[in-house]
Amino acid sequence: MQRRDFMTLRGGTLQLDRSPRVRNRRRRKSEGALVMNSVTSAGVRIRESKHMKKLLVTASAISFGVLAGVAAARAADVPMPWAYGFLTPPASQGGGAPIAPPNPPAPPDNVTKLTLPGSTLNFTRAELANRYGPADWFPQEHSPMPEIVAHGRQSANPTIFACSLCHQTNGKGRPENAGVAGLPYNYIVQQLTEFRNGNRKTSDSRKTNTGTMSGFARALTDEEIKQAATWFSSMPFTPWVKVVESSTVPKARPAAGLFLKLEGTEAGEEPIGDRILEIPEDGHQTEYLRNPHSGYLAYVPPGSLKKGEALVQNGITAAGGKVTPCTVCHGPDLHGIGPVPPLAGRSPSYIARQLYDMQHGNRNGTWTALMVPVVSNLNPEDLLTAAAYIASLQP
Ligand code: HEC
Ligand code: HEC
Repeated sequence: MQRRDFMTLRGGTLQLDRSPRVRNRRRRKSEGALVMNSVTSAGVRIRESKHMKKLLVTASAISFGVLAGVAAARAADVPMPWAYGFLTPPASQGGGAPIAPPNPPAPPDNVTKLTLPGSTLNFTRAELANRYGPADWFPQEHSPMPEIVAHGRQSANPTIFACSLCHQTNGKGRPENAGVAGLPYNYIVQQLTEFRNGNRKTSDSRKTNTGTMSGFARALTDEEIKQAATWFSSMPFTPWVKVVESSTVPKARPAAGLFLKLEGTEAGEEPIGDRILEIPEDGHQTEYLRNPHSGYLAYVPPGSLKKGEALVQNGITAAGGKVTPCTVCHGPDLHGIGPVPPLAGRSPSYIARQLYDMQHGNRNGTWTALMVPVVSNLNPEDLLTAAAYIASLQP
């Protein structure tokens, strides 16, 4: 029987309530409400409502003092460069200047008309890359975009690019930003509020697009937020990344937060090491043609899917510790519960990056408090294996 699930944190108790009344699963997401009146309380408890048996999952103390302690304890380690779009860790921690961007690229070609199999339209590269209205190869595949998603708002201060420039016309996004399609409406509104309030920052100061996203959120009107959240939450998130365990990977170079396979004489294979390498299945289709039908490949170290499964499904960490299984809040198939976001089949680079940012207090929104007791007990291997396994699941 389908149930309506929602979470509340009132007076320090997070309740995962499952009401058997609502049968329509698709309605569940929009109806969910994660209400957190206080995070200064002494304990977080997850329990099922009166309809179900009481389930006490965790009673760990959580307070802002604990959050600060987590951030301090981990100040020495460095963000995994692969999750932030770099080959090497940042040279110095603690707010080093972002590296200067390379020479400005030549203006895109605005003469040659390009085509794509399956689309009757043709566009120049300049039209495809237009920040205030990137060309849409398949307008028939989605409902009409609200103005802010299709064109942004150039007159805003700071100026707002079209959401579809980075998150794409299918909403599924790219590893260096985020898949927004299929996220619950309330979750999207909450995240835009967090970006606006400065509660989502990056742990690697070289990654500048997180700050760009915050600027957009500050400039958005509440009405634009509602329209964007309505549209993105109505878009299905369909398979987008293929996860492959492999001891070797193609050599790749970072390009503005995305890894691209090296071509020609530079092409080759190298050992994977302790990382995930996520690259477009076809760099030309993704980067040049912005083909929304061309997805991603993620190479993950051999054995990581099994370890990730143990962590995600059973809460068993690489060090043999125990955390609340991710499935308790994100759902048995990682498709989300109420406003708690779906994770299945989404970019492993994005997932690992969020886990690291939350672990280090750089993503620090109201609802992040629920993730802190989990992530503070994970090590870098756990972040990798959880991301690998979750990305391998059917969205
Ligand atoms: C310049 C590129 C860019 C544009 C344009 C852009 N975003 Fe983003 N967005 C990002 C990046 C980058 C992130 C993830 C930041 C990170 O990983 O640190 C993000 C994250 C998000 C998230 C969080 C997703 C999650 O799973 O928590 C939402 C929601 C979002 N963007 C909505 C929007 C909306 C709405 C617009 C249009 C008004 C927009 N974005 C335009 C780059 C962009
Ligand atoms: C106690 C409930 C709870 C548990 C257990 C939990 N999560 Fe979460 N998770 C949340 C909530 C709530 C959010 C939204 C956080 C925010 O707004 O910053 C979230 C957010 C996330 C995000 C960010 C998603 C996005 O789109 O940006 C990731 C990734 C994530 N969780 C992974 C995990 C993993 C992996 C585990 C298990 C190791 C886990 N979570 C366990 C409640 C939970």
